[in-house]
Amino acid sequence: MQKLSNRIVTVNRSPVIFGPDSYPALDRLVKSMHPHRVFILVDENTHQHCMPQLFNSVTTLAGAKVLKITGGESSKSFDNAVALWKELLTLGTDRSGLIINLGGGVVSDLGGFVASNFLRGIRYINIPTSLMAMSDAAIGGKTAVNVGFMKNQVGSFYPPAAIFIFPLFLETLSRDHLRSGFAEIVKSALIGNEGLWKKIKAHPVSEVLDIPADSPFWHHLILATATLKNRIVERDFREKKERKALNFGHTIGHALESYFMQTGAGELFHGDAVAAGMMGAVWLSAKKNFLSPAQLEVVCRYLREGFPRIKIENDAIPEVLGFMKSDKKRMAGLVTFTLLAKPGTPVLNIPCSEDEVTEALEFINSFSPSHHEKSLSQ
Ligand SMILES: NC(=O)c1ccc[n+]([C@@H]2O[C@H](COP(=O)([O-])OP(=O)(O)OC[C@H]3O[C@@H](n4cnc5c(N)ncnc54)[C@H](O)[C@@H]3O)[C@@H](O)[C@H]2O)c1
Repeated sequence: MQKLSNRIVTVNRSPVIFGPDSYPALDRLVKSMHPHRVFILVDENTHQHCMPQLFNSVTTLAGAKVLKITGGESSKSFDNAVALWKELLTLGTDRSGLIINLGGGVVSDLGGFVASNFLRGIRYINIPTSLMAMSDAAIGGKTAVNVGFMKNQVGSFYPPAAIFIFPLFLETLSRDHLRSGFAEIVKSALIGNEGLWKKIKAHPVSEVLDIPADSPFWHHLILATATLKNRIVERDFREKKERKALNFGHTIGHALESYFMQTGAGELFHGDAVAAGMMGAVWLSAKKNFLSPAQLEVVCRYLREGFPRIKIENDAIPEVLGFMKSDKKRMAGLVTFTLLAKPGTPVLNIPCSEDEVTEALEFINSFSPSHHEKSLSQ
């Protein structure tokens, strides 16, 4: 694969500017926005690993005020949003203020949420530093905080002024978080790019994670996924139709995350939850005769071999179902799913019964490559 140079994925709402040499473009954009004050939101890891590079490369940011949160999902909280709003007020921020979110999905979701409500909305730019954020979270203007153990229950649709992707930031990302982000790339391929899925499935996840951050392989994957997401978002910003495809794997995935948060059952990476959720959704797709058993086997084999097995004890299933019922992706009391007709082709708004979802969760527990035919016919 050829190394890609800088690209602008041009869209009306939020341009995605991709590539290692985009710092001058960022510099020009910030200057052109004439912000009264610039804030850079970071967590401790992006403060250490990414901020020096940003400061060295963009002179306009020399006087920016750094706002720091603790890394991790629990920071995506209303309490943190309130603390940040108070800080912005204390610093006398007016409507021309600009927030730059330098971090993973937690920083961009929280920073976007803070920007969207402060003084009824100030501008923000996302600079994603994790694979999850480069390929998905930083794009599309969905902002959120968690409420209690419920994921993303309060938020807004509020687009960033731009998204700048510098793949080199991935050099310091942990392998676990790289794997987690890769799950969203697999998701994007499955719902929107069959060719990309064919490329991906030729490389086991363990092999993919060994590929250096600044390689054409990652450049290609990030650019393809970011472009796909941005196109979908442009056509359906408020998730009335097509954008629902991006929720593939998330109905079960978010419920698993909420369950893990509630029970303190240990850290569950968003992407690992989504990978398990995709297995469940693929099983439902086959159960409802959208997807062939052969495709079910191929997709689930890839996910099982590449992502940690998440075991849901039988007596925990009702609780996981409970989280799904209170998730946003429900209609008229039924849990609805994005399913697959084939890799690259999603089917939207498919209601599934509690019994079907229970079976899907049992399938996630039990699937071993080549053993699935028995569970499908039961
Ligand atoms: N808004 C959306 O459309 C959308 C889409 C997908 C996911 N999300 C959200 O994104 C979040 C998950 O994102 P995430 O996986 O990026 O989580 P994260 O922001 O917690 O980042 C993962 C970890 O990696 C560290 N990190 C980030 N960049 C680094 C770097 N370059 N070097 C070293 N360490 C680095 C962070 O400090 C953190 O500890 C979830 O809350 C999820 O709900 C949102």
